[in-house]
This record gives sequence, structure tokens and C-alpha cells, in this order.
Amino acid sequence: MKIVCRCQDVTEEEVVAAIRQGATTIDEIKRLVRAGMGPCQGRTCRRLVSQIISRELKKPMAEIYPPTFRPPNRPVPFALVMAEYERQAAEDRKKAEKSARPDKAAKPAKEGKHP
Ligand code: FES
Repeated sequence: MKIVCRCQDVTEEEVVAAIRQGATTIDEIKRLVRAGMGPCQGRTCRRLVSQIISRELKKPMAEIYPPTFRPPNRPVPFALVMAEYERQAAEDRKKAEKSARPDKAAKPAKEGKHP
């Protein structure tokens, strides 16, 4: 018994069984046996699953369709998310202030300066 996905305790036999049920992509394997759904999001097992699909379906690795990724692909500290939110909010405020200010070119010229 070889463990392929150590996050989800998925064995090579389970992956091969999923392929024999008709799975041909990494995403299909993921849906059937949960390989790639652990905390590492498949960073460790994705390549092993591709190799097994390649071997079982007798396809070159280049023809194995890559899995879909959903952000964030790795844990992101919430402070970083909030810092980005605040930066974006400050930028939006500056834009709003700039668009609310009257345009300098549109100001009427002071009296007495015209010839
Ligand atoms: S080893 Fe498969 S999801 Fe982490």
C-alpha cells in the first residue's frame, strides 16, 4: 500500500481504482478520492497522481490536463488581506477626492489680469 496523498491518506490503489472507473484528469481523481484536497492543496501529491494517470492511461505526462487552482493557493495571513484592503480603500478615496476637486484649468481668470 503506497500513500500518494499524505494529507488525505489516499493510496495508489484508490487512485488506480478511480482511473478504472473512468477518471482521466487530476480534477476527476480529486473529486472521486479527495487526493489534492488536503492542506497542501495537492502541492505534494499532484505530480504523483499525474504520473499514475500517465502510466495507467499510457499517455505522456504532457498530455495530462493540469488541475484547476482556486486562490489562495497557500495560506495568507488575514493581516495581509486587510493591508491590501486598506491600501485599495485609500487609493479609491484619493481618486474620489481628485474627481470632486474643481479642475484648475476650468477656474475663471482673475479680473484685471486680462489686457
Ligand atoms: S498531499 Fe495531497 S493534498 Fe496534500
